[in-house]
Amino acid sequence: MGHVTNFSFLKSKRNKLLVLASALVLSFAFVACGPTGDEDPVVDNPCKDDATLCTPRATLVDTGEIIFQGNCTGCHGSDAHGYAGSTPPLANSDFFINNRHRTIRIVLGGYDAVPITVNGLNYEGSMPSWSTSLTNVEIAGVLTYLRTVKNDSTIVSCNALVLDDNGFAACTKVARSPAAMALDTVAVWEVKAVRDSLIAAHVITD
Ligand code: HEC
Repeated sequence: MGHVTNFSFLKSKRNKLLVLASALVLSFAFVACGPTGDEDPVVDNPCKDDATLCTPRATLVDTGEIIFQGNCTGCHGSDAHGYAGSTPPLANSDFFINNRHRTIRIVLGGYDAVPITVNGLNYEGSMPSWSTSLTNVEIAGVLTYLRTVKNDSTIVSCNALVLDDNGFAACTKVARSPAAMALDTVAVWEVKAVRDSLIAAHVITD
């Protein structure tokens, strides 16, 4: 009968390697699931009680285009290009691409009165809240449509001293890969989580 210590498992070289490899895999998984820097809400199994909370991306994009054409073009322009100095662009917009969580908040709660810089120009206008007129699916849809269809470029830098014919700053743009854009779905459960937090903070009522 051999004496078994707690660490006998580690005595074989192969097992040591196994333990090391598992530790590595675990630490990568931890990094991959960590915060993205823009406060994405974390929700356990979001579609457990309601399948619409995980509406597929293709449906979101189709819904989003209709919502955009029906509600947003009046101020942001038919091509989401915006109007320099008054309404920011939602297409190829550095602010829009880089502020995933805040754009959900802005659409739900209305503009949050903190001035923003979009593609090198400052905007201090106001936008109404869409929380009563648009559902979570419609808001996830319009944001997913804008992120995937209208933001196929990343803005690298803008020079506000050099303006184009429409009054926009000259910007360096780089095409984004389809794979990067495919990660841009804004899930319905994310919008719901932000809506719930804005209701709890009394920013919106429903
Ligand atoms: C009444 C005019 C108006 C309408 C309609 C409107 N917006 Fe806006 N929106 C604005 C203004 C003005 C700002 C900029 C606020 C500021 O100056 O900081 C803005 C800012 C934004 C921003 C943040 C800026 C950015 O570049 O990401 C988002 C996102 C946005 N709007 C989305 C939408 C969506 C989606 C719709 C349609 C559902 C919509 N807006 C309809 C006027 C409007």
